[in-house]
Amino acid sequence: MKKALFVLLMCAVPSMVLVTGVAVAHKGASGVVKTRMETMKNMAANMKLIAQMLRDQIAFDAGKMDQAAMAIANHSGTALTKLFPKDSLHPPSEARAEIWRQWPAFQTASEALKQAAEQFLKELRAAQAKIKKETNNPMVRGSFGKIDVNLLPPDDKEMKRLEAAFAAMGKSCKSCHEKFRLKKQ
Ligand code: HEC
Repeated sequence: MKKALFVLLMCAVPSMVLVTGVAVAHKGASGVVKTRMETMKNMAANMKLIAQMLRDQIAFDAGKMDQAAMAIANHSGTALTKLFPKDSLHPPSEARAEIWRQWPAFQTASEALKQAAEQFLKELRAAQAKIKKETNNPMVRGSFGKIDVNLLPPDDKEMKRLEAAFAAMGKSCKSCHEKFRLKKQ
């Protein structure tokens, strides 16, 4: 195994386990294919967490949401394209050979996800900063008591902006898959 790849694998695996704790073993997958499948699974778990909070299916927690979006931002862009060394297509990979035929487009797709995740983080942090400012106002502080401001969901206007930024993230996953991932049978 190339040294750089080995170091990459050693770095990538523990950090993914730490981030979400859901690195699932893939039947028969090994090496870099396994690593990127696990990376993708983790990204999907983080997307699900954000979606559930935005839809009010689980309690809103800006800290957890921030971490989930950060994990996606950190695992996309060049961190993601590095997991696709040329012609790494051994089973059970669902990667298409198209990736290496259209490498710049693949890089652009990975970068688009990173930018969408960073935009989401920007919106989330702006919304949280606004809540912090409001709750620091002595006129309203009393009514919040000792509550953790991270647990206060943003108002409707900010929530709509978060939803739009989240939808853009989902779109970037989908548009890369449409071009570069084999359809499940
Ligand atoms: C730059 C392209 C690209 C982007 C962006 C991308 N994916 Fe993927 N994804 C792939 C490819 C290619 C595969 C197939 C990898 C393989 O099997 O070797 C894949 C596979 C997957 C899988 C299946 C993993 C498995 O265990 O078989 C899931 C789930 C997934 N992606 C989720 C996501 C989510 C969620 C996002 C967005 C947050 C995302 N992906 C963004 C290219 C991308």
